[in-house]
Amino acid sequence: MPTEELQRPHIIDIPEEQQGAVYEAIGHPTATKRFYIESYGCAMNFSDSEIVASILGTDGYSATSDIYEADLVLVNTCSIREKAEDTVRKRLEYFNSIKRTNKGMIVGVLGCMAERLKKSLLEQEKLVDMVVGPDAYRDLPKLISNLSSGDKQINVLLSREETYADISPVRLESNGVTAYISIMRGCDNMCSFCVVPYTRGRERSRDAHTIVKEAQDLFDKGYKEVTLLGQNVDSYKWLDTSKNSVVTFANLLAMVAEVDPLLRVRFSTSHPKDIDDEVLYTIAKYHNICKYIHLPVQSGSSRILELMNRSYDADWYRSKIDRIYEIIPECSISCDIITGFCSETEEDHQESLAMIDYAGYILSYMFSYSERPGTPAARKLTDDISLEVKNRRLSEVIERQRILSGQLNKKDEGKNFEVLIEGLSKKSDKQMRGKTSHNKVVIFDVHPEYKIGDYANVYITSSTTATLFGTIIQ
Ligand code: SAH
Ligand code: SF4
Ligand code: F3S
Repeated sequence: MPTEELQRPHIIDIPEEQQGAVYEAIGHPTATKRFYIESYGCAMNFSDSEIVASILGTDGYSATSDIYEADLVLVNTCSIREKAEDTVRKRLEYFNSIKRTNKGMIVGVLGCMAERLKKSLLEQEKLVDMVVGPDAYRDLPKLISNLSSGDKQINVLLSREETYADISPVRLESNGVTAYISIMRGCDNMCSFCVVPYTRGRERSRDAHTIVKEAQDLFDKGYKEVTLLGQNVDSYKWLDTSKNSVVTFANLLAMVAEVDPLLRVRFSTSHPKDIDDEVLYTIAKYHNICKYIHLPVQSGSSRILELMNRSYDADWYRSKIDRIYEIIPECSISCDIITGFCSETEEDHQESLAMIDYAGYILSYMFSYSERPGTPAARKLTDDISLEVKNRRLSEVIERQRILSGQLNKKDEGKNFEVLIEGLSKKSDKQMRGKTSHNKVVIFDVHPEYKIGDYANVYITSSTTATLFGTIIQ
């Protein structure tokens, strides 16, 4: 699978191997019933599942990773590409096979597919009991209780206000070191290929004080890194009525960074049109704001960018890249790229390849275009690039990025980095795994004086296209 070939979890688009993450049982003092939840899609969905867990916790449910002991089975879904929806449909078939023998089990669909398909999901997938959109999770206890009437339940109302600001997420499958904090919901951008504005509704920002409080609580519990999440974090804007002043994303970054110098701050996703100098200077100013920006380009061709309604052209994007390196010289940048968008020519494709080299991305998340029903591109443009050409271009983009990632990792050899230790290496319990501020994964031997959650100074001795290897130096 191309997107995972280039490794490590990207915060907005969780890699394939982590899709469908099932959460471990979490005890709740008053829990009498069990729910099982699988999450697909981006980090926003994974973060929402933690909000759902919290809401269900107050309704007498605790999480289980064993589907056979669950009273309630939920799947938090994604609609971004056709394949994402196909994966969920297969899972629903599987749930339904269990439901045939366990008649009391409730099956609910949450998230973006619920919002996109609404009632038709209940009609198509006959064994689904409940369809709940991303802004309706507070209604879950009521919907579950209403099921006893024998009627299927649906709430897919989108809201202009809901941010779940007051809900303290139950951390599922946590490593105890890194956590997501959702800072806003929805998206107002209307990129022509994208389904998100339809599945998530209008953009709205969460109360800044509740965000800072959540970061503080996490730090107090031993967490060392928070990732502030939104589809377009740079347009975060919240009116503090007590002071009659607006909190911008740059202000928010600073507020979270000041929780503690030992709490790392990451954020995703930035939109090139909205990330401004104030944000860049704030990143430069605070040691604990990670020097890493995920800045999706989507295409290197100005003509395609216009058709995508991305509101910047290739030159403008390049000048943004220049500005980032000017203000934060040590910054690393990654991106998302789509190949084979409507009418894309070989020249357009070459421009995307050239953009990878220009920007010096440490990694990219690369996709072939998948037409989504109801989007502006589906209504007004023709999906005229054959699957074969889309995939060939995708392989070329992947290869170009692979070479570049290898070269950039090689340049890190012989350098020291501050690494936050996130856990043991997946391959050996004699090695640990952590990340640098610029979002590179580092593997190094276990050291008696260092534990998970500590910062270590690591000297890089070797690298692959995906990983740095090193040793702790004291
Ligand atoms: N809000 C973020 C990303 C949202 S979705 C942003 O604006 O960058 C994550 C990525 O999925 C997008 O950046 C895009 O590269 C990809 N994507 C979205 N819709 C797609 C589609 N219809 N086909 C293929 N890839 C798509
Ligand atoms: Fe989709 Fe564009 Fe919004 Fe990102 S910014 S979620 S790509 S519409
Ligand atoms: Fe995220 Fe997929 Fe929805 S990428 S916002 S879960 S469509």
